[in-house]
Amino acid sequence: MSATEDASPSPFDRRSLVNRVAAGLLGTAAVVTTAAGTGEELRLLTGVDTAASASEPGTKQSPIAVVGAGGKTGKLAVEGLLKRGRNVRAVTRTGEFSLGGGDVGDLMTTAAGDVTKTDTLKQALAGCGAVLFCASASKKGGNAEAVDYQGVLNAAQACVELGIPRLVVISSGAVTKPDSLGFKVTNVFGNIMTLKRKGEIGLEEIYAAAPKGLTYTIVRPGGLTDGAVIGPAGIELNQGDTIGGTVGRGDVAEVVVEAALSPATENTIFEIYDKKSRGPLQGGLPKTSGYERTGESYEAMFKGLQGGIGL
Ligand SMILES: NC(=O)c1ccc[n+]([C@@H]2O[C@H](COP(=O)([O-])OP(=O)(O)OC[C@H]3O[C@@H](n4cnc5c(N)ncnc54)[C@H](OP(=O)(O)O)[C@@H]3O)[C@@H](O)[C@H]2O)c1
Repeated sequence: MSATEDASPSPFDRRSLVNRVAAGLLGTAAVVTTAAGTGEELRLLTGVDTAASASEPGTKQSPIAVVGAGGKTGKLAVEGLLKRGRNVRAVTRTGEFSLGGGDVGDLMTTAAGDVTKTDTLKQALAGCGAVLFCASASKKGGNAEAVDYQGVLNAAQACVELGIPRLVVISSGAVTKPDSLGFKVTNVFGNIMTLKRKGEIGLEEIYAAAPKGLTYTIVRPGGLTDGAVIGPAGIELNQGDTIGGTVGRGDVAEVVVEAALSPATENTIFEIYDKKSRGPLQGGLPKTSGYERTGESYEAMFKGLQGGIGL
């Protein structure tokens, strides 16, 4: 295992995390004035015993791995998990990862895991309770064939072999609509849409043959933006890949985190976009799919999701 952990995080760095946790949970006016962020402070803020760090897959305190943690959405997903007091394993190709605020001690470890290299990936994911696949093609990491297709399959295979109960993968809206403008424009970048869809299909095949209790969720965001998080009330989930829009990376990060923690998303595929931006993916498609999900919380929206849609 190549996971590393800073044995002596600076009090300043820890306080920074506690402040950010507090701001996320209590609103931006929240200020924590304690001298140093400790596990006890995080427990008080989050209601979660951060001292415990179970490593059995499926137990409440098993770390949740974020693969591609250094990417824009990956980093936000790490923060979303920490905000909820969850143990996180931040997985990057190099094993290096920083939140800017520094190391966060007990709650987070880092590990080197390259999705194109199954041995490093399995080492990085061992003992995790869930995996969030936020990796995508990059200059040094590999093209879409290697990362968005084969990398997804490698992650699915690793999760099945390691007995990790849940894999959540970020794919893309419109992957099943090759005639849509969104597909055509995005696919110019190394056939990424074609390859993401191949990754979805391969993943489904792996899980169809997997032991019961090992499950996946595929999240298909619309066009990504870096705007402020709008939260579930401003979001629409959908199924069937007929409606799309735009969505902030922060909202995508929130939904993948929530999906990993919810049994209602087991073996489902769903789209996510800002409901103000919604529209049919291509001419001739109806304005509604009949699978729209809106609500005040993701858990409420998840409850209506159906398996077998969008395969
Ligand atoms: N852009 C859009 O409008 C849009 C729309 C729909 C869906 N999406 C999808 O949404 C997801 C998140 O997008 P994003 O823009 O937030 O991602 P991003 O910032 O591009 O991050 C991708 C991450 O993947 C990592 N990575 C690349 N190769 C890897 C490998 N071999 N092993 C492990 N990690 C590797 C990269 O690390 P290094 O940089 O260190 O290599 C990077 O940190 C992606 O799947 C993307 O395709 C995007």
